[in-house]
This record gives sequence, C-alpha cells and structure tokens, in this order.
Amino acid sequence: MTMPKQEAKPLERDPLSSGDRGAVTPAVGVSDVSVRFRGKNRDVTALRDVSLDVAPGEFVALVGPSGCGKSTLLKLVAGLLKPSTGEVRLGGEQVKGPRHDIGYVFQRAALLEWRSARRNILLQAEIRKMPAARARERVDALIRMTGLDGFEDAYPHELSGGMQQRVALCRALLHEPPVLLMDEPFGALDALTREQMNMELNRIWRETGTTVLLVTHSISEAVYLADRVVVMSPRPGTITEIIEVGLDAEREYGETLGRPEFRDAAAHIRDLLGAASAHD
Ligand SMILES: Nc1ncnc2c1ncn2[C@@H]1O[C@H](COP(=O)(O)OP(=O)(O)O)[C@@H](O)[C@H]1O
Ligand SMILES: [Mg+2]
Repeated sequence: MTMPKQEAKPLERDPLSSGDRGAVTPAVGVSDVSVRFRGKNRDVTALRDVSLDVAPGEFVALVGPSGCGKSTLLKLVAGLLKPSTGEVRLGGEQVKGPRHDIGYVFQRAALLEWRSARRNILLQAEIRKMPAARARERVDALIRMTGLDGFEDAYPHELSGGMQQRVALCRALLHEPPVLLMDEPFGALDALTREQMNMELNRIWRETGTTVLLVTHSISEAVYLADRVVVMSPRPGTITEIIEVGLDAEREYGETLGRPEFRDAAAHIRDLLGAASAHD
C-alpha cells in the first residue's frame, strides 16, 4: 500500500459527506491557533497557525524538534493555556479553562510516594468525587488491563519505571476521559520496557476506544502507535505535514516494524525532521 499524504493546511471538508473525518464532530478541534509568550526582553512565538482535527477514537502522534510547541499544543487542549489567536474545541465545545474530562500522562509518573499504586490511581476519583463503587470497579478493571495485578499495594519506590507509568496511565484513564493526552510518556524508560509499553498502549487504545494525542521524540513509537503522525517545524511551531500511517489498528510489534507501510512512513518522517533534529 502506498502512503497517502495530506497537506498541513486546514482541510476543506464537506460536513455532509460520509466516511471521512469531517462527517463527525472532532474529539479535538484546533483552528488557526497561534501562541505567543511575552518575555521581559523578547516574545516567543511557540505555535503559528496550527489547525488540526482529531476524530473520536483516533490516535494522533506529534513529532518535532525540541521547543517547537508540542507540549504547548497539549496544554491548549487541556485548557491550561489560552491561544493568542484561534480556537480549541473538545467534542465541539470551545475550551475556555482547565478541563477535567481529559486524561494527562507526563514523562514522569509523578506518583505520591506515601500512597500505594491502587491509592495513587484512586486519587483521580477523589479529585473528581466519583462514586466509590464505580471508582473501585474502574480501578480493578484498569489494574487488570495494564497488568498491574499483584502490585496494587506496592508503593512507588517498589515499582519499576514501566510499572510507575502504568499506574500513571491507570490514573489518567480512571474517569474514562474521551481524550487522553500523553507528553513523552515513555521517554524515561529503557528501550525494551518502552517497546512493551508501546504494545500495551496499542491494546489499551483499542480496548478503550479513547482518542489519543501523543507527543514523542521516537519516530518508530509514533508510527507504530498512531493513525496519523503530525510532523512539526522548529519554532515557531507549524505543521509541516500530516502522515497517514495506513496500518490496521491491531499491530503485532515485530511484524508491524517490518511492514512496508511502517518503513515508508518512518523514512518519510525522518526526512522531514532532518537527521540532526531527531533521535530514535
Ligand atoms: N510558559 C512559558 N513562558 C514562556 N515561554 C514558554 C512557556 N512555555 C513554553 N515556552 C516556550 O515556547 C516554546 C515551545 O515550548 P514547548 O511547547 O514546551 O516545546 P516542546 O514541547 O515542543 O519541546 C519554547 O521555546 C519554550 O521555551
Ligand atoms: Mg515538551
């Protein structure tokens, strides 16, 4: 299969046509967004004219050089930052302040050392005042889904880096958010653990049907996991190109990495980023 490419400019979509992403309300809608940070001596334009629609259930990866505004883009979606111009929508509704219906996973798991794995996950329920019975049910299901069985009562210092990130993922998914934001979640893990987490995330994404926006520096991680990979330019961050990966949702790791669709997409993204600005 060849790899269809899309122009980064806002897509003209006919809302009445069926079978394309424009036919449904995007889970995440970013329209003509720019972000400028005002500094003492100079202003920094972090993002310029960024437009991106993410369909419900879609997995989109963002790659680009350091400082190109990837984290800024996630913060806009979470409502932690306001765009200088343009608009961000979640499920069709404009984001006007911090959103509690999203899940967020960072590079560091940021677990509370004095709480067990289970009680770290339950923190989300306490913050959101979820009914206790539902929270317990969700925790049990997520612990099984992420393979944390047997480690529920362990404290963070007793868990490996991969397990700590699984706990962070469970915490982010507890309230069944329609959108999961992940900012280099596996960047601190060793290569083998990272591969394993990639396989698990692919399965969890398929099982939960949640929309995922993942920032990563790894081209192979982006291509293995995503439906589409958004390649960004150096600051001020703009979208250089959006690559459709064209693989089935269920992806066996080794087999997928050997597929022509995977290799073509990865090679193309590497070209776009330039050898110097990306490491894998
Ligand atoms: N709160 C802030 N105030 C000022 N500048 C910021 C702030 N947050 C980010 N920046 C700047 O905006 C640019 C984009 O940052 P960021 O989104 O963190 O990039 P990335 O995640 O792609 O590495 C960088 O130049 C960064 O220094
Ligand atoms: Mg960042």
